[in-house]
Amino acid sequence: MSEGDATGRDTSARVRALTAVMAVLVVIVLVFAVRRVATDWPHVTAGTVPDDDLAELYVAHPWLAYGHIVPGVLYLVLAPLQLSRRFRTRHYALHRRLGRVLVACALLSGVLAVALGFVFAWGGTPETVATLVFGAWFLLCLVRAVRAIRAGRVPEHRRWMVRAFAVGSGIATIRIWVGIFTGIQLGVLGLEDATYPVRSTFGLAFWLGLGTHVLVGEWWLRRTPDLDG
Ligand code: HEM
Repeated sequence: MSEGDATGRDTSARVRALTAVMAVLVVIVLVFAVRRVATDWPHVTAGTVPDDDLAELYVAHPWLAYGHIVPGVLYLVLAPLQLSRRFRTRHYALHRRLGRVLVACALLSGVLAVALGFVFAWGGTPETVATLVFGAWFLLCLVRAVRAIRAGRVPEHRRWMVRAFAVGSGIATIRIWVGIFTGIQLGVLGLEDATYPVRSTFGLAFWLGLGTHVLVGEWWLRRTPDLDG
């Protein structure tokens, strides 16, 4: 067995494992997006105010919220296809066309994410700062990916797109952290109403969720240089 065969098999196993993790993260985002629509839209259409201060913000600013969520979900669901080398090589023309649409979706979602970080900062200043830092990083990765491919630098394009997806998919991991913090407060600490304490851990969940994704993205790029191109 040659060293190249072993490296190729290691990479395929890693790609399969990561694909499974990405699928779970995308499903988590879809669940939260559907839950969001089910909570907000009856109030948006009826002009009523929900009895929940986070939902109240979504109902008060539906254009801002859904201008972020709808293109973001489209980007997150279809970006894994764009990152697949098999798809890129077999359907290059489609990769290019879809790529233009998804970059536009991600840029719109990213710009509005930064606005959400101010208007919807349910978790306070830590959430606003995390949104600013990681939102700017998300937008920078997309812009650098586009500039790289315009100049014909394919490996660099792939690397910036992987970084953008890593941080975008971190939105699902935030929900996992929020679930863990809520569980600790209700189950372990025995607090009956976890709303106030959960609120204060929301910003931490943003830093943990998005920060770990940036790091895992870098780890992935170091482990898979053979996927460049
Ligand atoms: C690109 C893929 C993205 C998708 C699919 C997405 C999706 C969503 C969804 C579904 C919500 C509603 C959450 C809920 O009700 O539980 C939301 C809210 C929010 N998102 Fe995004 N998002 C994306 C990227 C980002 C990025 C990169 C940031 C900032 C770094 C961000 C910041 C926010 C903020 C601040 C909120 C409002 C606070 C909250 O309810 O969590 N999002 N997003």
